[in-house]
Amino acid sequence: DDDANKVKRPPIITVMGHVDHGKTSLLDAIRKSRVTSSEAGGITQHIGAYTVRLNDEKITFLDTPGHEAFTAMRARGAQITDIVILVVAADDGIMPQTVEAINHCKAANVPVIVAINKIDRPGANIDRVKQELTEYGLVAEDWGGDTICVPVSAKTHEGIDNLLEMVLLTAEMLELKANPSRKANGTVVEAQLDKGRGAVATLLVQNGTLHSGDSIIVGSTYGRIRAMFSDSHKKIKNAGPSIPVEILGLSEVPEAGDRFHVVKDEKTARQMAEARKQK
Ligand code: GTP
Ligand code: NA
Ligand code: MG
Repeated sequence: DDDANKVKRPPIITVMGHVDHGKTSLLDAIRKSRVTSSEAGGITQHIGAYTVRLNDEKITFLDTPGHEAFTAMRARGAQITDIVILVVAADDGIMPQTVEAINHCKAANVPVIVAINKIDRPGANIDRVKQELTEYGLVAEDWGGDTICVPVSAKTHEGIDNLLEMVLLTAEMLELKANPSRKANGTVVEAQLDKGRGAVATLLVQNGTLHSGDSIIVGSTYGRIRAMFSDSHKKIKNAGPSIPVEILGLSEVPEAGDRFHVVKDEKTARQMAEARKQK
């Protein structure tokens, strides 16, 4: 629509892999935070969305649960992402949800970077992981293929800079662009009803800039954004392309995966939502 106004946008990277292979730990290491320690039973149950600043570049990461119950979340993650980091524990190898993740990536035609994690562990075997990957059509670069495989440890942080470098290099080749001056659209990453605050939704802006006060239609619900927060819970006024935000002000809880877009006013949004509901 507006090619002339498009500018470089941050890559959206989804981290996928089998349960407990270290996805959240890897993101914690990248963000220098400690999400893992606050999770119930050490199991991720939702998609966390974070933007990390690296020198002059931003990268948005989506964490996904590895537990087998969360297939739909992984499928959604693969659909809204530019690149997937597939985490495989070096002491465990390819497991059922690793295979599932590979299949989501193939279906969504998304480039995969393999992070071979837990290389600090005594049972780690990087070559065995590479061997197993070949059975699913992913051949490591040093084995003559084109799959980037980076050995890492979320515990010792070995290899993490290398992984981020590969992410930025891959993103560079994709020439990701968006127009920050148009009305925003994007996807609901997750949403829930909060007793005090009402419907709370995490949105990923994919094009345009979302402003506090904007009226949006999202699935068959709508609302005027009453407040908007960054991934670090700071109140913010604007969010550009590839930025995840939490918003308040929707009339109902939307579905994860629903698309949203900004319309001119709340009345228009309500009318559109009502029309969608009647279908
Ligand atoms: P789900 O989201 O539940 O699928 O798990 P996950 O893939 O996010 O794994 P998580 O980060 O919760 O890590 C699982 C366990 O592995 C935790 O006990 C971590 O401390 C441990 N772990 C993760 N990465 C490493 C690593 O590089 N080395 C070692 N030694 N342990 C790790
Ligand atoms: Na876990
Ligand atoms: Mg996790």
